[in-house]
Amino acid sequence: MVRTAVIGGTGVYDPRLLDDVKEIMQDTPYGKVQISIGRYQECEVAFIPRHGIQHSIPPHLINYRANIMALKMLGIKNILATAAVGSLHFEFKPGQYVLADQFMDFTKNRHNTFYLGGEEGVVHCDMTVPYCPELRQALLKAGEEKGLSVHNGGTYVCTEGPRFETAAEIMMFKQLGGHLVGMTSVPEVCLARELGLCYANISIVTNFAAGVTPGILTHSEVLDLMQQNIEGARCLIMSSLKYLPEYKECDCARILSEPGVIK
Ligand code: HPA
Repeated sequence: MVRTAVIGGTGVYDPRLLDDVKEIMQDTPYGKVQISIGRYQECEVAFIPRHGIQHSIPPHLINYRANIMALKMLGIKNILATAAVGSLHFEFKPGQYVLADQFMDFTKNRHNTFYLGGEEGVVHCDMTVPYCPELRQALLKAGEEKGLSVHNGGTYVCTEGPRFETAAEIMMFKQLGGHLVGMTSVPEVCLARELGLCYANISIVTNFAAGVTPGILTHSEVLDLMQQNIEGARCLIMSSLKYLPEYKECDCARILSEPGVIK
């Protein structure tokens, strides 16, 4: 049974490295989602390109609820999600990988929950530890094994986009304690938690954020840098599969069954 899914962000569109790939169309209450399912060594892996196969869906228009619900319906337990990010600090350099451990949400206009009250009641979901520590550990081991430059932890600031940030916004995020800026981890990680799925973020630093270094930002600069680092990201993800524990002790799946969390 397929337990692990990869959500590929900017630059990560095709399920290469997987054998015997088949395409399925998963119907959800939020719309249909095309999912590739293939094999990597002994592991079956599902794959969704977040921005569509042609990179045609911008971050603020992604159907996050459909993607996450489709993975849940497929029986997925673990999500490894890549994301292109700008860096707020010189120690996180373009070409390096960061396993975010916290986020700050500056999105404005997204469907950010499955719970809309009514008969289901009111749901407040704990997000103290948003990214699964056990998935992060597996990725970290894989990074060490492969000699990749992987930072263990960082705060991902999620902006609404699709525009890049102003230099003043980046300065503010830095003062607030942010390390990375991107446009997709929220609400994806929150929706995964609402359905009890373990979720890890693999941030790929593509640029220094606005104003951190002189000059302007371009989307092509982000794409070029991603292109150069896709192979490393794939290697990191695929090598982490063997380290994913079968039985996890994290709280990700338990949180929603806590009394007092729901209703
Ligand atoms: N800002 C927001 N999103 C991004 C950036 C950035 O600088 N780089 C890659 N994705």
